[in-house]
Amino acid sequence: MATTPQTAFEPEVKPASKLQETARRHLWMHFTRMGAYDDEHEIPILVKGDGCYVWDENGNRYLDGLSALFCVNAGHGRAELGEAAARQAKELGFYTNWSYAHPMAINLAERIAKLAPGDLNRVFFTSGGSEAVESAWKLARAYHKVNGDPLRTKIIARETAYHGTTLGALSITGIPPLRTTFEPLVPGACHVANTNSYRWPEDRDPLWAADQIEHRIEFEGPETVAAVILEPVQNSGGCFTPQEGYFQRVREICDKYGVLLISDEVICAWGRLGYYFGAERYGYQPDMITTAKGITSAYAPMGAVIASDRLAEPFMAGTSMFTHGITFGGHPVAAAVAMANLDVFEREDLCGHVRAKEDEFRSMLDGLYEDLPIVGDVRGAGFFHSLELVKNKETKETFSDEESERLLRGFMSGELFKRGLICRADDRGDPVIQLSPPLIADTEQFEEIEAVLRAVLTEAWERIVRHADGERASPRRSP
Ligand SMILES: Cc1ncc(COP(=O)(O)O)c(C=O)c1O
Repeated sequence: MATTPQTAFEPEVKPASKLQETARRHLWMHFTRMGAYDDEHEIPILVKGDGCYVWDENGNRYLDGLSALFCVNAGHGRAELGEAAARQAKELGFYTNWSYAHPMAINLAERIAKLAPGDLNRVFFTSGGSEAVESAWKLARAYHKVNGDPLRTKIIARETAYHGTTLGALSITGIPPLRTTFEPLVPGACHVANTNSYRWPEDRDPLWAADQIEHRIEFEGPETVAAVILEPVQNSGGCFTPQEGYFQRVREICDKYGVLLISDEVICAWGRLGYYFGAERYGYQPDMITTAKGITSAYAPMGAVIASDRLAEPFMAGTSMFTHGITFGGHPVAAAVAMANLDVFEREDLCGHVRAKEDEFRSMLDGLYEDLPIVGDVRGAGFFHSLELVKNKETKETFSDEESERLLRGFMSGELFKRGLICRADDRGDPVIQLSPPLIADTEQFEEIEAVLRAVLTEAWERIVRHADGERASPRRSP
């Protein structure tokens, strides 16, 4: 009889308290104030997931209103994704895409090319989103160099936008507090205004932000600019949607100056906005799409750059090549999971579900805006929305840094979690609550989100705004 092979390291099954202690001693959590965890503030340790819900080590259930980190799009507990991974691991656990190919990466590349808009037919796999962004910037530079435009190295992104943390991607990221510690960054990344019209003067031209890109290209010198990189809906700052015609204008500008347009869809692809790709929703044609997260519904790490035929062409003939690679790019197990994930998308029409239900999701949030003085704005698209929190709805006055710290980390993050809702209270721009539930969420989950948010936002207004009640800061702060 075959026996199950034992791993060399058998982790002991730990009681909850021991797990806490071990996590505090050995685990280095990302974007987390580790020192803030103590006997009163436990690390949230999640042990199980099913549909829109996850459970912690103490058996408490939470509605995952953030799809973990904008990524468990098909929802938790999908055994078939694990089974696809196991089948592939048995067949061929790993082979690289450096000079070799394997069926799963080939078939997945073809499937993605069929779904992607226009002639985005060439897929370069990575292990995640930051690597996809790095790879896209390098591809833009390599493309211009091979075309006799070696000075085109710069990239234009937007203020407050998050594009990742590796040094190239971080240079593109437009969030000063994330950048300053690591300066000097990679030269050549610059930033323009985003589409946050909530804080614009009322008489501003709706395409003002798009025109800022043209001004910046002119300022830098068009012959030095390789690419513009934009999210269809900008996550950081709180779901900034594009103005009508914004992307069409950006496309025109890029074409006028020979600059490539990269659509960073690490979050906005795979149904998040009700379409496979955000570019499809807003009707524009990028030269590259960068993606990750929902491509596997996060059951395995994977990212990709999806490039146009025009962009790939110089690297496809003779002795030329794109001199760039990542060991795990196109990992067969991750590719198998992505294929199974897309089967779920097709079978359950997850994009169609988001389109059918987004108005209901939105009107629940609009109701909070109408009823609660602390909600200054609601914005977003699909299953990707934010509420901006303000001190004064009429004047749009925002909170000071100290107030925001008390409001978000001192009260809301902990309170939302305590009441069973995972979402993000964030202040990389002005303070917002961000929601991005699994794409299977429905009326029942919207009602649950509404009930928790209404109670917590009402209490926040009372405690923080009226009484300036100071509480101990919560340590959780993810990007
Ligand atoms: C738009 C965007 N680009 C890039 C990244 C970086 O992706 P990763 O965390 O997988 O490296 C993210 C992560 O949230 C993102 O939202």
